[in-house]
Amino acid sequence: MPTGTIKMNKPPPTPMVQPPGKSEKYRGVKHTIMVMSGKGGVGKSTIAVNLAVTLAKQGFKVGLLDADINGPDDPKMLGVDKEKVYATEKGEILPLETKYGVKVISMAFLLPSEETAVIWRGALRHKAVQQFLEDVVWEDMDYVILDMPPGTGDEALTVSQLVPDADGIVVVVTPQDVALLDAKKAMNFASQLKLPVLGIVENMSGFVCPHCGETIDIFKRGGGEKSAKENNVTFLGRIPLVTEVVEKADEGIPAVEINDTLKQIFDGITSELNESLNKRKSKEAS
Ligand SMILES: Nc1ncnc2c1ncn2[C@@H]1O[C@H](COP(=O)(O)OP(=O)(O)OP(=O)(O)O)[C@@H](O)[C@H]1O
Ligand SMILES: [Mg+2]
Repeated sequence: MPTGTIKMNKPPPTPMVQPPGKSEKYRGVKHTIMVMSGKGGVGKSTIAVNLAVTLAKQGFKVGLLDADINGPDDPKMLGVDKEKVYATEKGEILPLETKYGVKVISMAFLLPSEETAVIWRGALRHKAVQQFLEDVVWEDMDYVILDMPPGTGDEALTVSQLVPDADGIVVVVTPQDVALLDAKKAMNFASQLKLPVLGIVENMSGFVCPHCGETIDIFKRGGGEKSAKENNVTFLGRIPLVTEVVEKADEGIPAVEINDTLKQIFDGITSELNESLNKRKSKEAS
């Protein structure tokens, strides 16, 4: 292959037709929340999945839109990575219903195997996410959580611009000082796109040794709270490093299903998030 050319896979089998105007099917969605970060690997998917499951447990109708076309991890974390999604004769896509009460859509459902890399140019990726927003039957969801692609580059930008009337973003950071810079990047991104920041979550915050019970601050502590203060946004909560999170995610079980401490933490995060949403609503109304 000559240098500079990019190998392109075939697009997914469903037709990529853009309906005119904003999607009818998305109109019933009450809240759209994007989970993003200034860089990759900080726990966006973990938090998006557990946030969605927590809200569903509280009785809300919740959709999870895996907007990470390159690394679609959510189906695996929910134990549905071997499933496929179906389209109706009208070309509507039905999101996959999981046993945790969350409906999910992801590129993973459209790939022939887990190991298949998506090597598409921007325009095609953009169409895939657009289709997730426009052709998926989200019905009257209370929340659609978007698990965003890593970082604040092109990919995240394109996705953000596609989302109709998002309520705002939840920024995930790790606790060390350099994370402050990453948080700042995410904040700048949000302000340039005029997206409200609903709050910051500090992930991988301290590790409780299962042997001696001592807490070890592997990535230091407090960076998320500090950035929330500095940027005058809500601090939503702190999630510790827990080995069960990794083990259970690999088994397709969200951590909040089996770990009471994490369940409580995510309950706290969702109540702070709802407060932040309400504050925003009353600010808009005034
Ligand atoms: N609090 C935690 N405790 C232990 N492991 C965690 C925690 N949060 C995330 N992880 C693990 O860290 C890894 C990265 O997390 P995750 O995939 O959620 O990050 P991400 O920000 O979505 O990554 P990417 O940018 O690649 O999409 C995963 O293996 C996940 O299980
Ligand atoms: Mg991810």
